Amino acid sequence: MYVCLCKGLREAEFPALASCHGSCLEAMKRAMGLDDSCCGRCEERLEDMIRSCSGCLTKK
Ligand code: FES
Repeated sequence: MYVCLCKGLREAEFPALASCHGSCLEAMKRAMGLDDSCCGRCEERLEDMIRSCSGCLTKK
């Protein structure tokens, strides 16, 4: 399932990105190559995924 249609990011690719860029949405967006020309529709979903991933990491 795609998270970001503009950059073609799939949900399955998210854990690798998150492990490199942690819980910072801005760092994640830079890593994905998102800029002002992108629509930004995926931001809310990314924030949710970052929150749930951070929760998993702090529980370990
Ligand atoms: S869907 Fe991610 S920037 Fe457009």
